[in-house]
Amino acid sequence: MSVSVLFVCLGNICRSPTAEAVFRGRVQAAGLEDRIRIDSAGTGDWHIGKAPDTRMQRAAARRGYDLAPLRARQVTAADLSAFDYVLAMDNANLNDLRALGDASGHLGLFMDFHPQPPVREVPDPYYGGEAGFDEVLDLVETTSDALLDALRARLG
Ligand code: 4NP
Repeated sequence: MSVSVLFVCLGNICRSPTAEAVFRGRVQAAGLEDRIRIDSAGTGDWHIGKAPDTRMQRAAARRGYDLAPLRARQVTAADLSAFDYVLAMDNANLNDLRALGDASGHLGLFMDFHPQPPVREVPDPYYGGEAGFDEVLDLVETTSDALLDALRARLG
């Protein structure tokens, strides 16, 4: 049995590629890369084909995550049936996903997996300062650990 996870934000250049890279690191460390498929996408189309934001890349690199190979793509209705978990970074992303169609698996907020969520949404760092990128990483790291625990239970 395997499980697939899609992380979704607005541009697919800050929050969701960070979740993709951080969660992939956790999954690889657990030796589960053959059983958990991971991808990310954006609800918007402005950054299709672009590498992650350089500010996000730098903040992630300081913690050992390489975002450079990732390229932005736009989420599609087909993604909602292709992935077991579609996890939105904020409520606007979640509403846009719901408007796109019906999900066959779990469609919800990424932060719902955080054990003690300080916030319900991962704040959009795009128009803010450097600290916002570190806040994204803090939230994504803790939530990724808990998400992996939840998927392990499902994988058995
Ligand atoms: P992301 O951040 O949704 O975390 O990738 C953003 C990236 C770009 C824009 C907004 C948010 N933008 O407006 O272009």
